[in-house]
Amino acid sequence: MNKSYIWSLPTRAFHILLMVFILAAFLTGEEDELLNYHAVLGYAVLILILFRVVWGIIGPKHSKFKDFPLSIAKAKEFTKNIFDTKQKYIGHNPAASFVMVAILITIFLIIVTGALAFGIQEGKGIFSFLNDSFFRKMELFEEIHETLTGVLIALIAAHLLGVLSDKLLHPKHGTLNSIFSGYKNTENNESIKLNIFQKAIAFIFLVLFFAFLIFNLIQPKNILIASKYEPIDYMTQNELFVTECASCHTLYPSKFVA
Ligand code: HEC
Repeated sequence: MNKSYIWSLPTRAFHILLMVFILAAFLTGEEDELLNYHAVLGYAVLILILFRVVWGIIGPKHSKFKDFPLSIAKAKEFTKNIFDTKQKYIGHNPAASFVMVAILITIFLIIVTGALAFGIQEGKGIFSFLNDSFFRKMELFEEIHETLTGVLIALIAAHLLGVLSDKLLHPKHGTLNSIFSGYKNTENNESIKLNIFQKAIAFIFLVLFFAFLIFNLIQPKNILIASKYEPIDYMTQNELFVTECASCHTLYPSKFVA
């Protein structure tokens, strides 16, 4: 048995960041006051997904999409021999490969529909111009966004179930541990090593990711988040009305009052 280095640091960092940010997005999605944070989290996850796609093309062997056994025949064969303790797939097994790709695509669609709903219904972000139009009352994208969230929860459940069953059926492979330590137990030495180009790309994405978060802290009214409408401060426009009359009369922007 060999201890092989399968998941490089960027792969593992991606996994943890994705976990944390998806969880945070779930937690901020329900509250209207947290919607701006929710949107920032969504864009941050988009950077992570983008990284994973690039990593799937130029990354180390086991992280490459080319290494994903995405075939129905292999998936069938894998399920049939699920109790076989011999380790045939070093990186992702066929079932896991399908779930991984589905998770990446679903998250991407969730972000796109989220940004559209944010623009159309809230008049915020890059699609805020759509709020002007007759689409304003359209809740289609919000509905797709929420439905896909349900799909994502199901996929995450499938992922956890897969990891758990692997832990029970193939405990010797050390799959669960590998996403934290990077190492799996393999028959032959299957270790990967990052080249300088891969290291540079991973580093650039990491910097981009945190720079994006810091940028949002410093510049909370940036184009991704900002509302197309100027908030009205009634206190400065007519303080007396706010203090004396507003408890009973609804306030309207003065331009609407003849
Ligand atoms: C305690 C609640 C309350 C407060 C405070 C209040 N209003 Fe009113 N106001 C009313 C109600 C109720 C009516 C409707 C009376 C009716 O229809 O007979 C009204 C009617 C009016 C009207 C008449 C509207 C119409 O169409 O005839 C004006 C003008 C008005 N309020 C101005 C003010 C202003 C200015 C202030 C602040 C200085 C103020 N109100 C504070 C409850 C309030």
